[in-house]
Amino acid sequence: MDGQAVRSCLLFAVQAVDAELMTVEALADGDRLHPIQQAYRDHHALQCGFCTPGFLLTTLAFLRDTPRPTDREIREALAGNLCRCTGYHNIVKAVAAAAAALASAPRPDLWPPAAPAPRGGEGGTTPPARGRGS
Ligand code: FES
Repeated sequence: MDGQAVRSCLLFAVQAVDAELMTVEALADGDRLHPIQQAYRDHHALQCGFCTPGFLLTTLAFLRDTPRPTDREIREALAGNLCRCTGYHNIVKAVAAAAAALASAPRPDLWPPAAPAPRGGEGGTTPPARGRGS
């Protein structure tokens, strides 16, 4: 929402009024996967339809802001996305691979707009869907 990864389960619909929304469906270009989707596929990091969209969009916002992350930074960025079904090892590998792929072939059209300053007013916004301590 407005360039930030947010948790839809913690967002009231009224908070999205007049906001720019992006969902996972916007990542692929027709049949051509976004490099992040391709990396998740290549590293067997795809999980179910509940958690994967969140992982993908969190990865997108994270890599936009942190294009050369360490494994620790990746794990911290994904800490707010919970999957009770598996480990995170392949997901971390996929994010690292996506970072490398995106760094080797920069394409501004693959990114959402940068997050604007937080909106003021009543209700505010939900915190970004990043690490627990951030
Ligand atoms: S595979 Fe999606 S929550 Fe575990």
